[in-house]
Amino acid sequence: MHIYERGFQFGMGIGMKLMPASKQKLVSGPGSLTEVPGLLAEQGLEKPLIVTGPRVSKTDFFQRLARALKESGREAAIFNEVEPDPSTDLIGRVISAYESNGCDCFIALGGGSNMDAAKAAAAALARPGKTLQQLGGVMKVRSKTPYMIAIPTTAGTGSECTVAAVVTDSKTHRKFAINDPCLCPDAAVLDADLTAGLPSHVVAATGMDALTHAIEAWLNRPYHKRGTPRQCAQAVHDIMMYLPFVYEAARAGEKAPAVTATGDPSTGAPAAAETQAAVTATASVAEEAPASVDMSRARQKLLEASYLAGQAFTVACVGNVHAIAHTLGGLYHIPHGEANAVLLPVILEDYGSKVWRPLAALVREARLEHLLGSTVPQGSATGALHTEQNEHLAETLIARIRQMNREMGLPETFSQIREEEFDQMAAWATKEANPLYPVPVIYGPEDVKRILRQVSRI
Ligand SMILES: [Fe+2]
Repeated sequence: MHIYERGFQFGMGIGMKLMPASKQKLVSGPGSLTEVPGLLAEQGLEKPLIVTGPRVSKTDFFQRLARALKESGREAAIFNEVEPDPSTDLIGRVISAYESNGCDCFIALGGGSNMDAAKAAAAALARPGKTLQQLGGVMKVRSKTPYMIAIPTTAGTGSECTVAAVVTDSKTHRKFAINDPCLCPDAAVLDADLTAGLPSHVVAATGMDALTHAIEAWLNRPYHKRGTPRQCAQAVHDIMMYLPFVYEAARAGEKAPAVTATGDPSTGAPAAAETQAAVTATASVAEEAPASVDMSRARQKLLEASYLAGQAFTVACVGNVHAIAHTLGGLYHIPHGEANAVLLPVILEDYGSKVWRPLAALVREARLEHLLGSTVPQGSATGALHTEQNEHLAETLIARIRQMNREMGLPETFSQIREEEFDQMAAWATKEANPLYPVPVIYGPEDVKRILRQVSRI
C-alpha cells in the first residue's frame, strides 16, 4: 500500500505546484558562447572561476571563451581537473581554487560532472559551517550561492537548469544529491557548436540520460505543474527524433577525421560525412524522417530537449532508474547515461500494466507514432485507447528504446556488478527513491535486487 510514501508525495505535490517558476536567464543558439562576458557585465562581476575538465580545457571553444573574457577585461581563474562522478575531495579543491583566486562567480563548463562540481562547491561556499554530506538531501542549503553561468557541452544531463548537484562521498563511494532551488544556475548558455566534437559513445550515453529524465518525469504525475507534461513530451520527441542522427554524425566524424565535424559553419550545411550519417540513420529511424538533417540544427534541438527534460525533472523528479543508476556510478564508475540507458527499458517493462496507459499517452502526446513504425494502432474517435492498445503502444516504445541502445552500441548488461554488493545497492537506491520520487511502482530492496539481477545476468 505504501501509505506513508504516497502521503508524503501528495504533500510534496502540493508544494511543487506552489514552487515559483525558475528565474534563470537563458541564452540559446549556435555561437551564443560569446554572450558570456555580457552576462557577467550585467551583474558587475569581474573574476569568474571556470570549472571544467581536462578534455574541455583543450578545446577550441574553451580558448574562445577565455579570449572573450580577456577582451572584456576579465582574467578568469581555471579549475580544469573535474573527473566523472566528482568526489567530496575534488569539490574541496574547487572551493580552494575559488577562494585562493579571489573569485566572485562561477562558470560551469562541460557535462554533468563539471556542473555538479561547480554547484556543490557553490553550496559549500554558501554554508561554510557544513560538510557536503550535511548539505545532502532536500533544502539543506537555503542560502544565496555565488552567481553561476552553466554552459553544457553535452546533451545532456540537464544540470544547467536543475536544482541538484550529485556528489560521491570520497570515503564510502556513495553518491548523494544536494537538492535546493538556490543551486539552479543563474544563467544557462545553450550553444550547440560546443557539442559538435563529442565522441559518439558520449553522445549516446548523454542522450539516453536526457531521455530517461523526460520519461521518468512524465511518469511522476503527482508532482506535475501545468507545463511539465508538455516539456516531457517535447523532449522525448526531439531526443528520439534527433539523437540517432547526431550519434551517426559523431561516428562518421570518427571514421573520417579529414572531414570537419561541424560542416560549413557559415551556412549550417552538414559536412559530407554527416550527410551520409543522416541518410544511414534515416533508414533505421523512420520512414517519414527527412532524407538529410542540418546537423547544427539537430544538435541545437537535442541540447534544447535536454534542457526541457532538465526543467521537467527539476519539478517532477526522476525515478527508480536514476536511483539504481546512481549506485552503479558510485560503486563501479559506470557512466551515468549508460547506466540509465540499460536500466530504462528493463524497469519500464518491470512496471508492467501500471505504466501502459501513461506510456501510451506519452506516445500520442509526443507524436511518436511515425518514429515507432506503422504498426502502432490509432485511438478511437474519442481518443480513448483500450487496454490492449495501451499495452501495445507501451511495448512498442520500450522496444524502440532497446533498439536505440543497440544501434548506438550501448550494452544490455553490466558484467562488473558483484552480487555481494546487492544489499548495499538496494539500501542506497531505496533510500534515494523513497519517499521522494512519486514513481508508478514503489520499489523495496527486493525489487531493486531483481532489477540488478536482470542487468547483471546473475
Ligand atoms: Fe540523469
